[in-house]
Amino acid sequence: MSEKRNIFGSKVGMILATAGGAVGLGNVWRFPYMAGENGGAAFMVIYLGCVLLLGVPCMLSEFIIGRHGASNTFRAYSEVGNGSAWKYVGFLGVLTGFLITGYYAVVSGWCLQYVYASLSGELQGDATYVTRYFQEFSQNPIRPVFWTIVILLTTHFVIVHGVRKGIERFSKAMMPALSVLLIIIVIASCLLPNGWKGMEFFLLPDFSKVDSGVFLGALGQSFYSLSIAMGCICTYASYFSRQTNLLKSAVQVSLIDTLIAIMAGLIIFPSAFSVGANPDSGPSLVFITLPNVFNQAFSSAPFIGWLVALMFYALLSLAALTSLVSLHEVSTAFFYEELHISRKRGAVIVTVATCIIGAFCSLSLGAVKELEVAGLPLFDLFDFVTGQIFLPLGGFLTCVFVGWYVPKKLLHEEFTNWNTLSGRCFGAYLFLVRYVCPVAILAIFLHQLEVI
Ligand code: PFF
Repeated sequence: MSEKRNIFGSKVGMILATAGGAVGLGNVWRFPYMAGENGGAAFMVIYLGCVLLLGVPCMLSEFIIGRHGASNTFRAYSEVGNGSAWKYVGFLGVLTGFLITGYYAVVSGWCLQYVYASLSGELQGDATYVTRYFQEFSQNPIRPVFWTIVILLTTHFVIVHGVRKGIERFSKAMMPALSVLLIIIVIASCLLPNGWKGMEFFLLPDFSKVDSGVFLGALGQSFYSLSIAMGCICTYASYFSRQTNLLKSAVQVSLIDTLIAIMAGLIIFPSAFSVGANPDSGPSLVFITLPNVFNQAFSSAPFIGWLVALMFYALLSLAALTSLVSLHEVSTAFFYEELHISRKRGAVIVTVATCIIGAFCSLSLGAVKELEVAGLPLFDLFDFVTGQIFLPLGGFLTCVFVGWYVPKKLLHEEFTNWNTLSGRCFGAYLFLVRYVCPVAILAIFLHQLEVI
């Protein structure tokens, strides 16, 4: 039988768990690059605008659906939509979260391998060595699959302990650890010779670089980084209490996520500029450029370089793990509530299925070339379908659902906690979610597909 539904035990635990879900690889490997390339502080101002005007209303909409539905994302959309076809938008969220879990676990597994490799000193070498190391590792048939399974089993371990004793307790320990590591590495990077040049590049506003593409890039990044439209936010909100101030929480989570992304930039640019390297984005930044940068930047104090690299990959693994926990929970809640089985069994189904998806995605990167669909390795296919199609589609439909279908009274009650909080911003929220957010998401979608 399904167990009694739990809620988060404390406000801090709730904020840290939700922020932990949002803070992930996207903060470290995508944000700094986009900011550096697109006008530094000018990009950040635009990004912050996107977060506050579009990210927060979308997150708030998912909070409302999740808390009102008090169940998994599929059922929550069904509850709020009175059993209408809108429940399939909830199902799309669950499916997106499920598919992302599989391939996100592969990259999270790479982070664990790099913790191990920095610990054992395997990452020491010149640029050619580090590049070859990553290529050989990611195309190896066994090792990446092994680490994918290790990180999914770790996630499973957290999930089976439940919302309070698993997710909340884990996030309350991991998020402060992540912040401490982040601060130490930021200081170490900024103190490097020529580190200030990197800071200047990252932070000095350059409005001449700003065009419509920069706006759309910032928008897309804000949705990706805040984990919107993949079921995570809605599922976690189903564990919020009736006292939770939804607007304030959405703002707090978004600001934590943004602050961590900016701090990641304060690691990457100063250290890269100190050795004259050009930071790029994605896996090549984290798994090729940075090990090399750490090796060179701290060549006069190899122990510090070793320690910084170790702490950096530990930080990345923690960020990935807290996101993975939130992604896993989306499907676990779906399976155990819809199939009326125990939470543990639901989690086993998700862990086994995502281990299989993860293994196939990992093998598609080189070990088994046949794992391709339409010329794309499975890994890239999952990335494309979820990131470029399902996420914008789910986000767009959610805004239309909340803005145009859900009764205003229900939204107002959730927004003001049944008239116990101020409803001053409610009109602005409704305007954004009705008109601005759907148009903006449509624009990101068309931009990503290179239509505009
Ligand atoms: N928001 C998290 C990140 O920035 O890494 C989690 C995440 C986002 C996972 C997007 C997967 C994804 F496609």
